[in-house]
Amino acid sequence: MSVTLNDEPLLNVSGLTKYYGGRIGCQDVVFQLWPGEVLAIVGESGSGKTTLLNCLSTRLPPSTGVIEYRMRDGSMRNLYQLSEAERRFLMRTDWGFVHQHAADGLRMTVSAGANVGERLMAVGDRHYGKIRATAADWLGRVEISEDRIDDDPRSFSGGMRQRLQIARNLVTKPRLVFMDEPTGGLDVSVQARLLDLLRQLVADMGLAVIIVTHDLAVARLLSHRIMVMKDGLVIESGLTDQVLDDPREPYTQLLVSSILQV
Ligand SMILES: Nc1ncnc2c1ncn2[C@@H]1O[C@H](COP(=O)(O)OP(=O)(O)O)[C@@H](O)[C@H]1O
Ligand SMILES: [Mg+2]
Repeated sequence: MSVTLNDEPLLNVSGLTKYYGGRIGCQDVVFQLWPGEVLAIVGESGSGKTTLLNCLSTRLPPSTGVIEYRMRDGSMRNLYQLSEAERRFLMRTDWGFVHQHAADGLRMTVSAGANVGERLMAVGDRHYGKIRATAADWLGRVEISEDRIDDDPRSFSGGMRQRLQIARNLVTKPRLVFMDEPTGGLDVSVQARLLDLLRQLVADMGLAVIIVTHDLAVARLLSHRIMVMKDGLVIESGLTDQVLDDPREPYTQLLVSSILQV
């Protein structure tokens, strides 16, 4: 029987462990991610969320474990056995990484248009007019006025910078986007608008996303599935509504109830 690509995982993670010297970053993490699926990694500060995300996105080599990724040609590859050129290709085209602080994901001293256009040039686009038109279109999609295209992000508000970072990441139509607390540094009113925009883009583009957040409201709004981390271990996982409405683990119950109190 033939299967379509969508019946196969995009990411297959087994036994993923990262030690910092003797300290545990994350331990024995096992999961699969399917195309178009949004997975939230939640847990309190220090539980291992960022460590896990960085290992998954090849920014931090794990101590042990295997991460396999389904390449565009359908082959399943061990991420830590890719050539540097293959890894760069993923980072520039097939993947996005949205940092909590936009300054970590943008070039602050070049124009907004160039921040978006650069990613297109990295995938081989050479036609200046086309690149500029696509950049302008993407500024519009993230609700940045087109007349700001030649301004650099230093003159942007926090929310605008974060929307620009999102445009820069999504312009190459990635299949997988990593996000680390993408709304974390913003005012509450700005957060709500950004979340709404993110939710729309992710659904429209059918993106697979792994999002780290300590905010269960963000996980509730964006994710299909949740993994709860504590002390480097995944202690509970499942469909988002199930885990948040009916948590099994006492620790998850605590997390959920402290959110309900605010
Ligand atoms: N660069 C590092 N060196 C040593 N220990 C680290 C480093 N980064 C994280 N840790 C430790 O690993 C554990 C998990 O941290 P982290 O992944 O940053 O958690 P989270 O993102 O959930 O706050 C913590 O105990 C933290 O102190
Ligand atoms: Mg973190």
